[in-house]
Amino acid sequence: PRVVVLAGGLSHERDVSLRSGRRVAEALRGAGIEVTVHDVDSDLIPALTQARPDLVWPLLHGATGEDGSVRDVLEMLDLPYLGTDPRASRVAWSKPVAKTVVARAGLRTPDFVTLPQSLFRELGAGRVLEAIVQRLGLPLVVKPSRGGSALGVTLVRDAAELPRAMVDAFAYGDTALVERAVEGREMAVSVVQSPDGLRALPAVEVVTDGPYDYDARYNPGRTEYFAPARLDAATARAAADMALQAHRALGLRHLSRTDLVLTDDGVAHFLEVNVAPGMTETSLFPQAATAAGHDLGTLYRELVQLALR
Ligand code: DAL
Ligand code: MG
Repeated sequence: PRVVVLAGGLSHERDVSLRSGRRVAEALRGAGIEVTVHDVDSDLIPALTQARPDLVWPLLHGATGEDGSVRDVLEMLDLPYLGTDPRASRVAWSKPVAKTVVARAGLRTPDFVTLPQSLFRELGAGRVLEAIVQRLGLPLVVKPSRGGSALGVTLVRDAAELPRAMVDAFAYGDTALVERAVEGREMAVSVVQSPDGLRALPAVEVVTDGPYDYDARYNPGRTEYFAPARLDAATARAAADMALQAHRALGLRHLSRTDLVLTDDGVAHFLEVNVAPGMTETSLFPQAATAAGHDLGTLYRELVQLALR
């Protein structure tokens, strides 16, 4: 089959996406699949209309890639693509909406509030932040409601740091998510679909000196990875179940990665899910696949074949 990988685009995660796209394209070529990488720009529609690939793999991170809008375009062009449909992508891309859906499905997720910038101004920053601290306590994590690669994310231990954290989150979107910080081990569980059903790959744990931020994610050597995570069988099962349940509850397709925190009591707390998980050399999905004994080219080819069925 001829596959077009979509990468780049205009999001804050453009560079990450180009790296993901290149890695996936190389692996697929190594597995005998004909691939081109298209950097998404105003030529997208004519380029796809002319190329008419058998399959499109949207490896765009951030808005348009993960919010479903480029996938809507693929559906309008009647092109088969790998991954989650536009409707479920929109739900998963919004962290507060995804948290609400998985909480309804019975998963644990840290308590939170959302705060649009307009309301933040209208109610007065000081008053509204005081109310939030009273309700959720400290420490808190402030994030853009929609975003990726930890951009605009701050761990707030002291209420005095909150206004700055809000400004950083608003730099990436009009609504901030403020959630109770759960102290524990940070890990991710990737899910892949096969003709036999869904399967969770081994959890990958990240250990950093400071926050697991953009630099820690994409500069080799900045983060220590445990793939698989050091977990007893019951805890590994709990983490895997959370990712599988989130994938199902949100109606995701083909692949996903759920990020979670594991507290000392062995309980998993859902943070978010990614419909286009990073595929760079330091990213967690490929590390999980390798830890499970998969050759990346073979696994990606199997996903392509699954999406073509
Ligand atoms: N948003 C980045 C690419 C990730 O989740 O891996
Ligand atoms: Mg994410």
